[in-house]
Amino acid sequence: MKITALHGQKHHGSTWNTTQLLLDLLISEDDECNEFFVNDIPNCIGCYTCIMKDEEKCPHRSLTKPIIQAIEQSDIIIIETPNYCMGMTGQLKTFFDHMAYRWMSHRPLDEMKNKVAIAVSTTAGAGAGVASKQIAKQLFWWGIPKVYRLNVAVAASKWDDVKPKIKFKIEQKAMKIAKKTKKNYERVCRGLRQKFIFKMMGGMQKSGFGTPKDAAYWKEHGWI
Ligand SMILES: Cc1cc2nc3c(=O)[nH]c(=O)nc-3n(C[C@H](O)[C@H](O)[C@H](O)COP(=O)(O)O)c2cc1C
Repeated sequence: MKITALHGQKHHGSTWNTTQLLLDLLISEDDECNEFFVNDIPNCIGCYTCIMKDEEKCPHRSLTKPIIQAIEQSDIIIIETPNYCMGMTGQLKTFFDHMAYRWMSHRPLDEMKNKVAIAVSTTAGAGAGVASKQIAKQLFWWGIPKVYRLNVAVAASKWDDVKPKIKFKIEQKAMKIAKKTKKNYERVCRGLRQKFIFKMMGGMQKSGFGTPKDAAYWKEHGWI
């Protein structure tokens, strides 16, 4: 089993520690795990090169490619963010912007339909659910059929200040999600909503509403 974990912030705080708990529960001896921090990726400049021409020509490709390749080769993808002002971190959103070409409306990777993901978020009070939902929405549009969400209100600004009772609660939640993930990661398939959207996107490509690059990709894959 291959796992990729993406950290939406650079420091080892509550979110990073929550993800480490999850990784400890998921990874066995034979598994391969890659971890990345997304912080050094510059903002998308809106040049449309990835969508219209070729993702390899994105000016930030040297930084995004190793992460994207690891994601595409993984069975399980974990993406985490602390809640910043009721949402994911700007750094993580910047990474997601570089994945626009992989949305179902453009050139989705077929293998995404076999992957399971986990969206992790911590917050001091409220908003972890909002942030993990934002991650789940991105992953839905990449074509991933199952995204579990691990949200925690830690009532602290630092991991060291998180009370043992809350840490125990995090462990319990992580255990539940790790168990479900291990059980289901080879069995997932797209639900009705995702299948419907995929079909609609195919119709769009067929009618010439997509870019020529996207339409060629859909034809190449025999989807239209
Ligand atoms: C810029 C910033 C914005 C934040 N916004 C919120 C917020 O809207 N609601 C909230 O309850 N906590 C908020 N917090 C607190 C963090 O979400 C919380 O402490 C989280 O567990 C930090 O995770 P970390 O240790 O991985 O950085 C914010 C913290 C920062 C630094």
